[in-house]
Amino acid sequence: MKDRVEVRSLKDHVGEEVTLGGWCYNSRGSKNVKFLQLRDGSGTVQCVFGGNSAQNNAFERFDEITQETSLYVTGVVVKHPKKEGVYEIDARDFEIIQVAVDYPITPKEHGIDFLFDRRHLHLRSSRPHAIIRVRHRIIKAIRDYFDSHGFTLLDSPILTANAGEGTSTLFATDYFDLGKAFLAQTGQLYGEAGAMAFGKVYTFGPTFRAEKSKTRRHLTEFWMVEPEVAFMDLDGDMNLAEDFICYVVECILADCREDLATLERDIAKLESVRKPFPRVTYTEAVEILRRKGREFEWGDDFGAPDETMVSEDFDRPVIITHYPTVIKAFYMKRDPDNPKVVKAMDVIAPEGYGEIIGGSQREDDIDLLRERIEHEKLPMEVFEWYLDLRRYGSVPHAGFGMGLERMVAWLCGLEHIREAIPFPRTLARLTP
Ligand code: 4AD
Ligand code: MG
Repeated sequence: MKDRVEVRSLKDHVGEEVTLGGWCYNSRGSKNVKFLQLRDGSGTVQCVFGGNSAQNNAFERFDEITQETSLYVTGVVVKHPKKEGVYEIDARDFEIIQVAVDYPITPKEHGIDFLFDRRHLHLRSSRPHAIIRVRHRIIKAIRDYFDSHGFTLLDSPILTANAGEGTSTLFATDYFDLGKAFLAQTGQLYGEAGAMAFGKVYTFGPTFRAEKSKTRRHLTEFWMVEPEVAFMDLDGDMNLAEDFICYVVECILADCREDLATLERDIAKLESVRKPFPRVTYTEAVEILRRKGREFEWGDDFGAPDETMVSEDFDRPVIITHYPTVIKAFYMKRDPDNPKVVKAMDVIAPEGYGEIIGGSQREDDIDLLRERIEHEKLPMEVFEWYLDLRRYGSVPHAGFGMGLERMVAWLCGLEHIREAIPFPRTLARLTP
């Protein structure tokens, strides 16, 4: 391997002759000077070939460098004459590694299906590149937050015997002599076991929903982080969610300015995300909808337009609490003062991004929990282990799940969630 310098560290090599390895993002030239935009994954740099300084006929051979051709470039690192913090290569020579012929993604506009059919190549383009870098930073912020607040990471299984979030969105597969296995919709039930063992845990991994809905918010495979805490109630759960979101947003604002600029994200909208978040009950949210002229039946679930209508009055996420029992999962604790509602909370992002967090206090009474499992017609046998958590030292506890891609879509200002994950899985897409 040649000794290479990465584009990201050019600032440490001003005035030196270096060799870079990368791909041709773009090139253009005139009679006297030729420009190559070289990308190496860590960044993009302009390499300028002048007729006089070029060696080994580099100037004459320049046209061999087609888009996405891989090559080494040697030259001297110089500061951009006008732009602070930008560097260029006063290029001397290049060596082609492989010539790329007819790279399909050209600088012209392409349709979204065309690009996602070529997602394995599309990731090289500046927009997906910026989004995946922000995603990476969000993941680090998530881990840093929980790791520094006394949480233990608990990896939950992906192959499970039971439904966690309703039976209508289960992916099933044959599991040897044990019947059907399902891809996990959530790690929560295992997180609850973890909370009783470690006090505070979080699960973080891929989750699966056979969502038949073709919306800009749904993936069939998405990543979810799920904290679960013993001796925490709904209020504690909301405070945790709020503090956590503010921390993630702060990290992105501090470290991802360049990528957010590439995405033309309106930073001011993110800067107003501060504690405290407004909190309204489901019933109050229904009143907001009705005041705005929407006919809405108490007991119905909110659709995306309803969430947007409720959230548009606020410049930061809004927390909706105390949803009707009938529309929420079996494990949520019923409000003792009003069993028609559960101690649940959803965090709705501003700007129409919808639900980014769903959470609740959990039912800690074994009889009430059994009743809910029966009522939902779920198979009691596979929940026996879960009921053990209420048999042996049950305590009040709560947690939530945050969809990583929903968060990425919101912070990056994406129109569709498919851009928020490297290789999206949707109703209509299983490749590449
Ligand atoms: O509201 P959900 O279904 O809640 C749970 O799964 C709970 N077990 C979480 C918990 O309390 N530990 O999902 C949680 C979040 C949603 O708010 C949303 O951000 C995301 O997961 N989500 C999806 N993201 C992308 N595509 C889908 N199909 C999603 N379904 C849920
Ligand atoms: Mg939900």
